[in-house]
Amino acid sequence: MYHEVIGTLNFPSLHPDFVVIGAGVAGLRAAIELAPHGQVLVLAKSDWKESSSEYAQGGVAAALSDDDEVELHEQDTLVAGDGLCDRAAVHTLVEEGPAAIEELISWGTEFDREGSNLMFGREGAHSRNRILHAHGDSTGREMLRALWHKASTFPAIRVLSFTAITELLISGGEVVGAVAFDGWANQAISISARALLLATGGLGRVYQATTNPDVATGDGVAMAYRAGAEVSDIEFVQFHPTALYLPGAPCFLLSEALRGEGAYLRNDAGERFMPKYHELAELAPRDVVSRSIVLEIQRTGAQHVWLDLTHKEPDFARTRFPRIYETCQKFGIDLAKDKAPVHPAAHYAMGGVRTNLDGSTSLPRLFAAGEVACTGVHGANRLASNSLLEGVVFGARAGRRMRDHAASPRLCAEPYAAPQFPAIEEKDLRALAWNQLGIVRDEAGLTDALARLEAIPMETRASTTRQMFELRSLYEVSRLIARCALARRESRGGHTRLDYPERSAEFQKHSLVQRDAPGVRFYE
Ligand code: FAD
Ligand code: SIN
Repeated sequence: MYHEVIGTLNFPSLHPDFVVIGAGVAGLRAAIELAPHGQVLVLAKSDWKESSSEYAQGGVAAALSDDDEVELHEQDTLVAGDGLCDRAAVHTLVEEGPAAIEELISWGTEFDREGSNLMFGREGAHSRNRILHAHGDSTGREMLRALWHKASTFPAIRVLSFTAITELLISGGEVVGAVAFDGWANQAISISARALLLATGGLGRVYQATTNPDVATGDGVAMAYRAGAEVSDIEFVQFHPTALYLPGAPCFLLSEALRGEGAYLRNDAGERFMPKYHELAELAPRDVVSRSIVLEIQRTGAQHVWLDLTHKEPDFARTRFPRIYETCQKFGIDLAKDKAPVHPAAHYAMGGVRTNLDGSTSLPRLFAAGEVACTGVHGANRLASNSLLEGVVFGARAGRRMRDHAASPRLCAEPYAAPQFPAIEEKDLRALAWNQLGIVRDEAGLTDALARLEAIPMETRASTTRQMFELRSLYEVSRLIARCALARRESRGGHTRLDYPERSAEFQKHSLVQRDAPGVRFYE
């Protein structure tokens, strides 16, 4: 595998067989599948490691322990998805999950063990201890390390960092290439390929408060939508209950695995409040815990709640969660002695570019896998630690299907429109999304947000930066979330409408938006 920082090179056009946009778990897993069948170009818009995968803490779920069964994992995933999971997608995930993990282990992934046995942790809404973790709380980093190592054994894989795809290129409705922005040379590069995979991850940066890294700006959804692909269930955004809430500190995730290991949530009065909201208390599904925190904050007038591990053994947090412990330490919180202030933050997109189980989108030659894709596997709310698993299972499946294009002819791209950028500051856009498209929504707020977004003028610019392209993605994705959240007149999973607080049988359907089709459609 070649790894290049593109700024040191100068090539205006590239012609690999396959393009993989994104170097997280989904992209690298797909690239490994593709490598024996052609030249694979993997792009990452920042340093190749900068991805949600790199920061994934809690672990990866798979029915591998002696007291677990695939059917139980399936059932837990369906329950968390709040009536909206695609059953075939869930079945595929949980059925293929254990083998996908065994394969990762055979490629060198070192999950934590007790003696020679794998250790299984617990997270919210799981009925069994089934979460594998690595180095305590660096699971994604370890999986990425092993995938990178495996990918490095294939000379056909080439990785370009600091190269952001900004546009998909079309020919007669098929996706035949892409335009990239070389952040070092500040110039566009055109790429032609036989098939392309979107593995661009999530969209958490739409929101003012998010656990996601800077690269999670929804580019994949935005560019696929502009190209005419179907986008589904985009109103379902998962808000993680426990991000660090401290002035001047990053919105750092305090893993659900902390609650899985017995951490309590307390209000300002020191009371454990979750038992009064759900029978599973701190281990209720994530959407329930986030909403309960918001209610508790409103009830008490506080700004946050507290995550409390102080009843555990003094060394527990430091040894079991070293990365979290050290980060909190930097901000003056010793988890052995201090409670940590926490608040929900945008964390994961259940919706995205609609695909079938092999990653095919509605556009020929365009595939999607990982967080950017919507297979329907998560329904309205993702079960904790199912996402890394999704990346490896569906990344591999997409890679296998893309191989069908190994001999597809290259097509000449049609000209594409000059990009236009919204005239709004990123911080204002993210505040608008947080306040009106966030954890709790209603018709007045959504209607107002949509009107304000649609009133923002679009401008062409003489020179461009990666940040401008990212702002365009954030803007386009915000509009899609607003439209779909307004159309879904019910509360389900990650989507809470104050004016429609119940689930509705009428909306036991997936939302669908597409560039050339007016309005929001729903399908079963
Ligand atoms: P990512 O890993 O996010 O990779 C996206 C890639 O796309 C990056 O390389 C990026 O540079 C690239 N990219 C994006 N846009 C462009 C563009 N325009 N051009 C070129 N490249 C582009 N899930 C779990 O299952 N277990 C956990 O414990 C867990 N913990 C988490 C903790 C945190 C803090 C976060 C943020 C998420 C966590 N998740 C967890 C969710 C999970 O990490 C992600 O859903 C998953 O890693 C996504 O993988 P991916 O390959 O789809 O995308
Ligand atoms: C966490 O560690 O709490 C995150 C797990 C996930 O998002 O699946």
